[in-house]
Amino acid sequence: MCGIVGYIGNRKAYDILIKGLHRLEYRGYDSAGVALVARDGKINIFKTKGKVENLEAFCADKDLGACTGIAHTRWATHGEPSDTNAHPHYSEDGNIAIVHNGTIENYKVLKDALIQHGCKFHSETDTEVLVQLIEYIRISNKCSLFSAVRQALKQVVGAYAIAVVAKDKPDTIIAARQSSPLVIGIGDNEYFLASDATPFVEYTKECVYLKDGEIAEIKQGESLRITDLDNEESEIDVTTLQMSISQLEKGGYPHFMLKEIFEQPDTLRDCIRGRVVDRGHRIIINGVSDNREVFKNAKRIVIVACGTSWHAALLGRYLIQDMCRIPVVVEYASEFRYSNPVINKDDVVIAISQSGETADTLAAVQIAKEAGAFVFGISNVVGSSIPRETYAGCYIHVGPEIGVASTKAFTGQVMVLTLLSLAVAQLRGTMTDDQIAQVGKCVLKIPTYVKRVLETLNDKIERLSLTYTYARNFLYLGRGYSYPVALEGALKLKEISYIHAEGYPAAEMKHGPIALIDQEMPTVIIAPKGHVYEKIVSNVQQVKARGGNILAIVTDGDTEISKIADHVLEVPEMPECLTPIITSVPLQLLSYYIAINKGKDVDMPRNLAKSVTVE
Ligand code: M6R
Repeated sequence: MCGIVGYIGNRKAYDILIKGLHRLEYRGYDSAGVALVARDGKINIFKTKGKVENLEAFCADKDLGACTGIAHTRWATHGEPSDTNAHPHYSEDGNIAIVHNGTIENYKVLKDALIQHGCKFHSETDTEVLVQLIEYIRISNKCSLFSAVRQALKQVVGAYAIAVVAKDKPDTIIAARQSSPLVIGIGDNEYFLASDATPFVEYTKECVYLKDGEIAEIKQGESLRITDLDNEESEIDVTTLQMSISQLEKGGYPHFMLKEIFEQPDTLRDCIRGRVVDRGHRIIINGVSDNREVFKNAKRIVIVACGTSWHAALLGRYLIQDMCRIPVVVEYASEFRYSNPVINKDDVVIAISQSGETADTLAAVQIAKEAGAFVFGISNVVGSSIPRETYAGCYIHVGPEIGVASTKAFTGQVMVLTLLSLAVAQLRGTMTDDQIAQVGKCVLKIPTYVKRVLETLNDKIERLSLTYTYARNFLYLGRGYSYPVALEGALKLKEISYIHAEGYPAAEMKHGPIALIDQEMPTVIIAPKGHVYEKIVSNVQQVKARGGNILAIVTDGDTEISKIADHVLEVPEMPECLTPIITSVPLQLLSYYIAINKGKDVDMPRNLAKSVTVE
């Protein structure tokens, strides 16, 4: 939700800011803007509705010469996407400018008080309230910019990552965070600032992740100064980034989403690396082995997540219950946090989040910690809030995921949950060594099998997608392990093609959705071989009997469903617990090609943002 970039140094700030905004556009693309602070004390602010490319066009004939600047790409919360509501916002006297990611919950109270003091507002945003408050404090208390920001933030309730610049401080950016991410890149006589490290990875690998409640004075030629809101100096923890620039580019693919789908053989290999050893006989998840007693004695596992990560969580329930015989509850993080949850000290709460920054999931983590549970995080983004706030965890190691529709992160999450289940089963003795080795060996084959699925099915799915592009509704059905896959397939289609799609447990269909079935509504059935295969054959027949059009994902060599379905996509045979990773790949491709046929922007679908840091 909103991306922030900042730069201070000797280069042309505008170029760095624009490139950085493009990298952060996954966080929102309702409007974009920059504030450039020239050394002679002039602030130029340029902002427009729409994507960063609109901003570039708007700036083409503008004065862009400055070595300090802040920039923003917006996902609208307060006020519609418009030029006026776009960031940066500035104080009425034009002396200071701000960019902000987050929401200021008490902005109305603050605004009313400022209006009483004669302030006038131009936008509908909460952010303009903050910048006016900072300037009001700076003038009334005759204090420094740093101090004014600090005092203003003490009055704020809500979430924020901000960057502030002032006309009379062309060599300084003030930055602060509370619940929204912000990282400072340390270069050679230059500093970078961003919502994540991607905007500056080609300039420096050294960075400092700001912590909640911290405020930083970033001054060219001087060491960083970081304090809390009470002005107590903080320790500065410098991290070295592992990310490479090639991971952030499309590498010859037309879209990040397609690149990320095709990266899965490699990302799954990276995810498994070092975790499945002795040719599949032993599974090592450090977060589990470092907390053996916790996992050995856990009475219940509660998994919290949102969106695609919640679908991975549902698969986690099947995996953990099957392999470890521990009861598992799966909750939407947004519901969990307000449901007065009953959490016990011997519960393990697992929070899953690709970004590691989802506000609802982060809040669920805090609630679980307060209730005394052991909280374990599964995330992709190293150094993000959820890994930092949880007691132990596991990264999925799939590299930066830029496409807003999650693909490789989903399969990475499912893989980690599979390995975690095997590791806990090993620990609790709920599977024999032979059973573990049987699954472990197949896990090692998954990257090759996913590669085979991509090679054999990509062209076929591209052709087939033409048949399905103009359907207005889709039903996705699956049972057991294939039920969450159906939900995820339907979500992928909705997100990027804007076609209505429902995921359902196949047997539930007859309790209602069957009424929808006709020739106009395709049904996608996920039906690999497994213990409920015969049951799903009946469901396929039920759809066919109502004249439904069926696309089925089946195991190589399937003869039964192939006879009934209109189209089939065959995937390699795997133990049932490993089928979700294999069967979800053709569904990713199907939604991708349908969206392309419809001319949609698959990497930046309307109204969505990749990192949802607001409630
Ligand atoms: O970063 P997270 O995994 O916490 O994000 C959760 C959801 O916002 C996310 O999975 C969303 O549903 C994606 N757009 C799915 O493609």
